[in-house]
Amino acid sequence: MDLSTEYLGFHLPHPFMPGSSPLVDDLDMVKRLEDAGAAAIVMHSLFEEQIVGEELAMYDAVRGPEESYGEALSYLPDPEEFALGAHDYLQQISLIKAAVSIPVIASLNGTTPASWIEYARLMEQAGADALEVNVYDLATDPLETGEDVEQRALDIVTRIREAVRIPLAIKLSPFYSSLSNLARRLEHAGASGLVLFNRFYQPDIDIEELEVVPKLYLSSPNELLLRLRWLAILSSQFRGSLAVTGGVHNAADAIKAIMAGAHAVQMVSVLLRRGPETLVRIRADVERWLENHEYGSLKQMQGSMSYARTANPKGFERANYMRILQGWRPFEDVS
Ligand SMILES: Cc1cc2nc3c(=O)[nH]c(=O)nc-3n(C[C@H](O)[C@H](O)[C@H](O)COP(=O)(O)O)c2cc1C
Repeated sequence: MDLSTEYLGFHLPHPFMPGSSPLVDDLDMVKRLEDAGAAAIVMHSLFEEQIVGEELAMYDAVRGPEESYGEALSYLPDPEEFALGAHDYLQQISLIKAAVSIPVIASLNGTTPASWIEYARLMEQAGADALEVNVYDLATDPLETGEDVEQRALDIVTRIREAVRIPLAIKLSPFYSSLSNLARRLEHAGASGLVLFNRFYQPDIDIEELEVVPKLYLSSPNELLLRLRWLAILSSQFRGSLAVTGGVHNAADAIKAIMAGAHAVQMVSVLLRRGPETLVRIRADVERWLENHEYGSLKQMQGSMSYARTANPKGFERANYMRILQGWRPFEDVS
């Protein structure tokens, strides 16, 4: 069965790959992922805070205590909290490139179009085949408009596009007021692909210690539904590549995402829970499913349930909302 797909200009034997996570900080794990047939490696992010923190720390050391940036530094995580420093990150790109023969996608994560995005160029020089930019921007300033927030994302993409030649995928959150319009403008700014969706990690409250505590839960398949809707809509509008990230745990999840229009299927939680070999199983299960359903290739299925191609496109919008709510009966769903 031909499972091949095109993603960010790469011809891949199939769409299944690890999403961005610390899994690939370890070269043995990278090899295991390649052995499990990963179509590409997406690296853990290099974070704006990390780059800025290192730059400030260096500046602080050079300038001396009288012009200390200690206060600024106290807002940022200690550089040692990151598994890989900015320099190590670039080295890790070269090491991974030397160890595997599949495309290596480096990841930058930040919110402002500031000096940290110069690292895009360094990542390209270190050998990254493509770049995933995670625009992790939680808008909390009441003086800032949605347009300001979107413009910031566009500025990041425009500046990185000017700095590098490699393909650029933008990992977005779903929290924009007009995602279709933003996707269009990102495409014009030079985005080669979109990765749907970034998860914002939710802080919790410790009611005894009166502290805000960070929580990282691995995903559940329920999270896929939001992605399916937007994959289906954007695959009919955005001309670049689309990757799904969030809630893919088995072959059925992957099939749905591909039917909605995904060109690449990224997985993290399931690989963290069950190991990299899960990639082999999911790929085999998808292949078997396609054969049993008499598809000639994966591409034949790709986008078949997109907004433009499904018989019931309004199902992805508001229309079913009323029907679902009105059709619901109390105490029926006890699962
Ligand atoms: C431990 C962990 C670390 C992650 N690190 C990153 C990261 O560095 N950059 C990034 O863009 N996403 C990161 N993610 C998010 C994942 O790439 C992915 O988008 C998210 O986990 C949803 O996919 P899943 O349902 O397959 O887990 C991380 C997720 C986990 C669980």
